[in-house]
Amino acid sequence: MAREPEILFTTEEIAASVTRIAGAISRDYADRTPLLIGVLKGAFVFLADLVRHLSIPVEIDFVKLSSYGNEMESSGEVRTIAGLEQSVEGRDVIVVEDIVDSGVTLNHFLEDLRSRGPASVKLCVLVDKTARREIEVEIDYAGMQIDDEFIVGYGIDCGEQYRYLPDIRFVQNEPEVEQEESTP
Ligand code: IMP
Ligand code: MG
Repeated sequence: MAREPEILFTTEEIAASVTRIAGAISRDYADRTPLLIGVLKGAFVFLADLVRHLSIPVEIDFVKLSSYGNEMESSGEVRTIAGLEQSVEGRDVIVVEDIVDSGVTLNHFLEDLRSRGPASVKLCVLVDKTARREIEVEIDYAGMQIDDEFIVGYGIDCGEQYRYLPDIRFVQNEPEVEQEESTP
């Protein structure tokens, strides 16, 4: 059984990262209206906080990607289970994701996105687990770096638990989980 998760990043630390990223995006896109694409479900809190700190207009869309595997590791197979409502053709797109771990999920989605003719694509990620990368993914806006730790809170789950927590915590022991389909 997993022990109660312990705090890794406080609400203040997260807010500082969000404010810093929002400032950078506002400067870089000063004369444009980018389309922010949030990757559900994990990025929903991050995206909501991020847009409220921007000083530029943006449009927002979501995708929902699914990877097969247990709840703590992605299997490498990714499929889109809810797609974009807006066209990305000619748009300046910023993909907003909670975590890049192996890089498999985002690599798959970014390839698909780039084939749809956007003017530009940038990637904004709250938590970067560089040490676990299997596929190279270029991150343009990054919040925090962590080692090989499993985290929850601030929209991020473990088996659908803990998304509601306002801070980010790490799960100390891997809970026993069954092989099933999970949403990244
Ligand atoms: P990747 O395809 O291995 O990069 O995994 C990406 C997705 O796995 C992330 O978007 C998360 O939804 C999920 N994930 C990776 N690490 C964690 C974690 O520490 N806690 C919760 N979900 C995670
Ligand atoms: Mg995710």
